[in-house]
Amino acid sequence: MNSTFERNGEKSTVEWYTPPYIIEALGGWWSFDLDPASPENIITETACKYYTKRDNGLTQSWHGRIFLNPPYENPLIGQFMQKLSEHGNGIALVYNRTDSKWCQEYVLKRADAILFLSKRIKFIKPDGSMGNSPGAGSILIAYGQENVKYLENCGLEGCILYPKN
Ligand SMILES: C[S@@+](CC[C@H](N)C(=O)[O-])C[C@H]1O[C@@H](n2cnc3c(N)ncnc32)[C@H](O)[C@@H]1O
Repeated sequence: MNSTFERNGEKSTVEWYTPPYIIEALGGWWSFDLDPASPENIITETACKYYTKRDNGLTQSWHGRIFLNPPYENPLIGQFMQKLSEHGNGIALVYNRTDSKWCQEYVLKRADAILFLSKRIKFIKPDGSMGNSPGAGSILIAYGQENVKYLENCGLEGCILYPKN
């Protein structure tokens, strides 16, 4: 995905990292077994185990509770979201793109809960500094009832919807 919508007004790249306060609100990095889309050089901890581009997280076996902030480019984002929806245990952080094919197929039809965050997330750059406010809001998506509870109790401001209800 490479529209200016997600570019933060800065150079477009898939290397945008999750700020620690999001991970802490969702139970802490130690509560996630795996981050299957991770940089080689970890700037912010997200999980107990990581797969990087070199491993190709898409071809690996996923285990336990997943934290996923996928690469925002096609077709990767859809492939990662499909795999998480089939795995059925984890939380994804993505831009709010409810009209995209991956969102229609793997979020709106398969997620157990979606938290539409009311505040925009400033993501972390590879040098550890904070990026600008992005051009779109973000959503947190829960698969599995344990992760629904984490979203309900995370304390991040926003509105939760339950697409299967
Ligand atoms: C948006 S960043 C999120 C990084 C980290 N998960 C986080 O939340 O801070 C997506 C990451 O996926 C990595 N990536 C790209 N293709 C991948 C692949 N096929 N398998 C695993 N990781 C990949 C990129 O290098 C990038 O570091």
